Amino acid sequence: MLEQRTLTKETVEKVGETVTVFGWVHARRDMGKLVFFDVRDASARLQIVGVPPELATDEDREALSALRAEYVVAVTGVVQQRGAKQVNPDQATGTVELLAKQVRILNESKTPPFEIDNEERQAGEELRLQYRYLDLRHERLARNLRLRDAVVTFFRDYMHAAGFIEIETPILMKGTPEGSREYIVPSRLHVGKFFVLPQSPQQFKQLLMVAGFEKYFQIARCFRDEDQRGDRQPEFTQLDFEMSFVDAEDIYQFTEAMMIELVRRVTPEKKITQIPFPRMTYAEAMERYGNDKPDIRADKTDPNELGFCWVVDFPMFERDEEGNIAAKHHPFCAVHPDDRALLDSDPLAVRANAYDLVMNGYELSSGSIRIHRREEQKKIFDILKISPEDQQRKFGHMLEAFEFGAPPHGGFAPGIDRIVMLLAGEPNIREVIAFPKTGDARDPLMGAPADVDARALHEAHIKLEN
Ligand code: AMO
Repeated sequence: MLEQRTLTKETVEKVGETVTVFGWVHARRDMGKLVFFDVRDASARLQIVGVPPELATDEDREALSALRAEYVVAVTGVVQQRGAKQVNPDQATGTVELLAKQVRILNESKTPPFEIDNEERQAGEELRLQYRYLDLRHERLARNLRLRDAVVTFFRDYMHAAGFIEIETPILMKGTPEGSREYIVPSRLHVGKFFVLPQSPQQFKQLLMVAGFEKYFQIARCFRDEDQRGDRQPEFTQLDFEMSFVDAEDIYQFTEAMMIELVRRVTPEKKITQIPFPRMTYAEAMERYGNDKPDIRADKTDPNELGFCWVVDFPMFERDEEGNIAAKHHPFCAVHPDDRALLDSDPLAVRANAYDLVMNGYELSSGSIRIHRREEQKKIFDILKISPEDQQRKFGHMLEAFEFGAPPHGGFAPGIDRIVMLLAGEPNIREVIAFPKTGDARDPLMGAPADVDARALHEAHIKLEN
């Protein structure tokens, strides 16, 4: 073990003591005879006053003159109170500094391709992602990932306290009709067959309701091969949940209480525009705001205002780009009880028992009460013009499961990345994901996607066209 270590944050409690801190050289300033620099560790940053020349050994002098930004160092010294004028109220350790007695270099660093702590650094996306481990040294990004951790921890604790069980569902699965193109994975053992990565755990969570768990959740990774936007990544994370013996009102109340508690606990400086969250139908939202994710904030310039609202009664169907009838959310949504009679005569007028939670003009979550009877599910597939053979081939397992005592059920899936983005006041979910993809779905750090060996292709039974 390294000698007794003190975290930089802890030094405020240790005035007068001799301590050793470990970390990265943050900023170095030569002030005549004295060298100042900051040491940054995971807890905070601490100002170091270099060993005064009269006390320095040759080794110290050498180390001090060699120090560069991002060098890894161990510094031993005495913690001292800063003079009143030197106190920096913006820094966790702003009341103290370390008068170094010994400085050791544990590792050197090349000059980083961009300045770590400069907000104005203007490094392009490509460079930032290629050196993401340096980008993540930036205080703002590190803070975002800690906020993300706090949000995920909050959700896990909240769900468990409410009697939910977290269950992992497969990543290698079969296609699911949720509207996005899927990532496909060739099977080595089954020639010409493919797995796909889940767009969401939708079907599995419904099957877990058939299994009788009643309250499931999962911090679920989802994959969608779709065009990127600021609030979309090819892989992202949902707080996916499902409950049995509930109606939409139960989902609204549960989710609303959870979101209010999240804000209170994790970002208490924020205020919510309106509680209870206003509710409007899809038709009202389209009429009043011209879109289905209205921004209801009173002051859109206030970074601490969070405007939540519910949009309910989404249409069951819409026309896709080719003019075909398609599911607006997904084909497992239950039909609004008042609209069943319209299914045959006017399907496009049918509302689903489906709802969204919106915040500050972003869709945070979608969900619905589901179909739990075979005949009703078949009817929806029929309207979607899925042939009986395709119904059987693609969804036979769902139709069959509904024949074994499927309970009424429904659920929701708040997007964790979007929630953290909005709580952090970031404009793009990339800023709250440790290793995100570029706008064109690449990872410049690892260089993915990449070629694979001819042998791997051969084993996967794949021949490239050129
Ligand atoms: P939906 O497809 O609406 O519903 O997704 C739910 C929530 O997941 C988030 N989200 C995304 N976040 C980042 N990047 C993306 N590409 C992306 N796509 C979606 C959003 C969105 O509101 N299975 C259903 C849920 C259900 O019916 O219970 C589903 O996945 O925050």
